[in-house]
Amino acid sequence: MADTLTIVDNRTGKKYELPIQDGTIKAMDLRQIKTADDDFGLMTYDPAFMNTANCRSSITFIDGDKGILRYRGYPIEQLAEDSDHLETAYLILNGELPTASQQAAFTQQITMHTMLHENVKKFMEGFRYDAHPMGIFLSTVGALSTFYPDAKRINDPESRHQQIIRLIAKAPTIAAYAYRHIVGRPYIYPDNDLSYTGNFLNMLFSTPADKYHPNDVLARALDVLFILHADHEQNCSTSAMRNIGSSQADPYAAIAGAAAALYGPLHGGANEAVLRMLDEIGSVDKVPEFIKKVKSGEAGSRLMGFGHRVYKSYDPRAKVIKKIADLVFTVTGKNPKLEIALELERIALQDEYFVKRKLYPNVDFYSGLIYQAMGFPTEMFPVLFAIPRVVGWLAQWQEMLVDPDQKIARPRQIYTGYDIRDYVSKEKRQ
Ligand code: ACO
Repeated sequence: MADTLTIVDNRTGKKYELPIQDGTIKAMDLRQIKTADDDFGLMTYDPAFMNTANCRSSITFIDGDKGILRYRGYPIEQLAEDSDHLETAYLILNGELPTASQQAAFTQQITMHTMLHENVKKFMEGFRYDAHPMGIFLSTVGALSTFYPDAKRINDPESRHQQIIRLIAKAPTIAAYAYRHIVGRPYIYPDNDLSYTGNFLNMLFSTPADKYHPNDVLARALDVLFILHADHEQNCSTSAMRNIGSSQADPYAAIAGAAAALYGPLHGGANEAVLRMLDEIGSVDKVPEFIKKVKSGEAGSRLMGFGHRVYKSYDPRAKVIKKIADLVFTVTGKNPKLEIALELERIALQDEYFVKRKLYPNVDFYSGLIYQAMGFPTEMFPVLFAIPRVVGWLAQWQEMLVDPDQKIARPRQIYTGYDIRDYVSKEKRQ
């Protein structure tokens, strides 16, 4: 059996044989299919990239029908159970789990880069008191580009490594400062004696007047949530990262763009939207009425935290998160909205509308409940998603830069506008 595809162009009667590799044909191989010499050649039309592979990647594997997610071959469930975020970050970035000394060195490098330049702090102080922290986060990450002009050397592996360390180290500090800004409390400097998530909790919730001890259970829960969110192959924000990076922009500018893509309610803003939805529903007895509204498509309402472009079965991350929720609630007390969420899930999983469309809870359905129980305002939820995803964005960016197949991203279009027409002077316009 030949690994080829035979195409007959019924416009010309010509026959073409295209190679098939890894279950794909090269879109550029279609260009030879022409009706005349001056014909541009055949293209594919694929809005939203529903069926287009944009790259070869060895980082993350997803089987959406079976509900499988693996980083570098390791199942997400095992990493969530046994790893920690920085170890997983090393794995995602370097392809292998670190030895003890590699992990110690990596952790030390991250720990030594958590501080922000004092001017960055001043920059952040300029935001309004009610600025959305995700807006603060993405603008500040973008502003870092001006502090590290060496980041422009994107083809220098040492410079890339330096920016990767800086970004992973500084993301929690920026996020914590954004939070402190909106709640009107002084910014807390990083504490090198604490773990990645312990330090983050300290920068968020400590006050200068009172010693704060990060709760081990909550620090671990956050660490697991970070592992679950670290990468998810070619999603909207990661594609944005690769697209921007393909123009050879520095990684701070590219991450600002990726974070902007993550901000939207159909992507990283979904967990924030889930909580608003649960608030809108109000109580368990109102759930059937809400489901009815979603099914009727009233005002474009959707069941937020449900459905996924890739997963057509239970999101494996949602399963881990449900377990983490139980753990967190033993410390914080149960989030009263949990009952509404459980009832929504119970009804939706039996309902013909959701079953037929293969709509299951995604990672965001329960994460917001955990974040809220831990004391985060809803506006912080997308920021909590962005911190760990910085790892995935950077790994994908680096992979793109060293891939000889890649060039500046530049899709084609089908032009649907006017053919040529003459300029009309103002007096003659209707
Ligand atoms: N509630 C109700 N109906 C839904 C939902 C939902 N959450 N999601 C999809 N559908 C329906 C659509 O209306 C459509 O129905 P139709 O065939 O009758 O027109 C069908 O299911 C297919 O939906 P699409 O929009 O084509 O699916 P797509 O793959 O483009 O969208 C998405 C995926 C954006 C995640 C969608 O499921 C959604 O909007 N979910 C809610 C937002 C959300 O939770 N986003 C987080 C995603 S995970 C993440 O980013 C980390």
